[in-house]
Amino acid sequence: MNEKIMNQNDVLEAMATTSAPNLGLDPRECIAPEPGDPCTIVIMGATGDLTARKLFPALFDLYLNDGLPDPFLIVGCGRTQLEDSGFRKKMKTALQTAGKLDSSKWTDFATALHYRVIDYDNLDSYQNLAESLRDLDTQYKTRGNRIFYVALPPALYPSVARLVGRAGLSIENTNGNGWSRIVIEKPFGTNLQTARELDRHIHEYFNEHQIFRIDHYLAKETVQNILIFRFANSLFEPIWNRRYVDYVSITATETLGVEHRAGYYEQAGILRDMFQNHMMQLLALTAMEPPSRFEADLVRDEKTKVFRALRPFPVENLPDFLVLGQYGSGTIDGLRVPAYREESGVHPDSLTPTFAMMKVFLDNWRWQGIPFYLTSGKRLAEKITEITVQFKTVPHSMFRHTLGEAIAANRLTLGIYPEEKITLTFQTKNPGARVCLRTVTMDFQYQQNYTGPLLDAYEKVLIDCMLGDQMLFWRQDGVERSWAFLTPILNECETCDNRDNMLHFYDSGSMGPQAIANFLKPENGA
Ligand code: BG6
Repeated sequence: MNEKIMNQNDVLEAMATTSAPNLGLDPRECIAPEPGDPCTIVIMGATGDLTARKLFPALFDLYLNDGLPDPFLIVGCGRTQLEDSGFRKKMKTALQTAGKLDSSKWTDFATALHYRVIDYDNLDSYQNLAESLRDLDTQYKTRGNRIFYVALPPALYPSVARLVGRAGLSIENTNGNGWSRIVIEKPFGTNLQTARELDRHIHEYFNEHQIFRIDHYLAKETVQNILIFRFANSLFEPIWNRRYVDYVSITATETLGVEHRAGYYEQAGILRDMFQNHMMQLLALTAMEPPSRFEADLVRDEKTKVFRALRPFPVENLPDFLVLGQYGSGTIDGLRVPAYREESGVHPDSLTPTFAMMKVFLDNWRWQGIPFYLTSGKRLAEKITEITVQFKTVPHSMFRHTLGEAIAANRLTLGIYPEEKITLTFQTKNPGARVCLRTVTMDFQYQQNYTGPLLDAYEKVLIDCMLGDQMLFWRQDGVERSWAFLTPILNECETCDNRDNMLHFYDSGSMGPQAIANFLKPENGA
């Protein structure tokens, strides 16, 4: 008998070992699954902020981790008059500022950098660029594969996409071109109508498989992990529904204020800046059904179904579903910070919201009646991004006589920032003769036992563009469904008579407006 048990254990142990080969992967293999095709990344807006703060540090990191194809070129384009050497110098400074410069590797990397002056509204300028790109292809053997990364203000997206197309640069596999892709940063439109118009402009010359609409939240490791956690484990999915879940809370708070972006933010506000994109993606990943395969279109089909299931807000009754706020002055990390209305470029009577908490419902079988609380705001006490799934309390407490208190329900938290972690709270008995319960947590730190290189969200975005994998990018139907949900809310918030009353002020460094206290009572239906 003992012998038999031993054998079974051996078998189990062996199975456990053989079923965990993923742990043995060389971490570098996780950086770039395959070397991409040789290509040129053409950055429109190469002298701007996004290029200096995000794109270049990401490209250089990829270079250091062998994550770029070989050969690989970067062609920066901008209105500023610069030579290749001036551009290289500028990018070196950008890396230094970002604390990313490794001088021993810079000289070699810099040979891949080129610069071309461009007039964004002038077709001739794009035609010159096309010629220049063809010359570089011949010289460096990049085979005409190109990514056009549009790191420019949104007003320029339509004309840049059209002129790249008119210069013949969107056509694939002919006339010296290999593949051609265009990367568009958010915001993708300002409402349903403008999002559709923008898409029409881009589609004049590009097909859907060539269009990469970025949402950098999707490229965060822990955000990608939501689907792995849900669908690569059999433990949680059976209870991931209205029978066991009481409510779900999705939070992305920040300590930063509007910074130097008042011009954009005054028009956007928190709903366009965070909800239309990042918050909706977090909601979709948390609530979606499993696709039959882990493929870009199948995953995006399931997300779109979530957006379709969003119950429209009764706009005449918005305060029951939405709290809007704007930060006043206050203290963050011991420093006094100004009110939003005192920030440079902000109108002194601005009604732009910098905080929102929204209660949304999904009209489908899995989630009927379960509230999802989406919260995001600037200048709050802490920067936290997390998803909390609050489970229902036990149906009957057999400990009531002894404890005389309610038993806290289980809670699962998927931490995205600052800690990349998963925690599960549950009840245990306190050691001792008396029966006392206590809430304990089981923690998993995402980087536990991992020593390989870490991939920043922009690095992941760039790798996927080079590989042509659209899994972590918005598809137009999703963009439109998200705007279709938000546009009536935005219209009402921005035009209703009691706009002033809808906006609740909060101190910088606080937890948000007081009004959220009444709002946060979980209830079914509503
Ligand atoms: C951007 C918003 O998309 O996301 C910013 O435009 C916001 O306003 C930022 O600060 C937050 O991103 P992260 O990765 O810092 O949570």
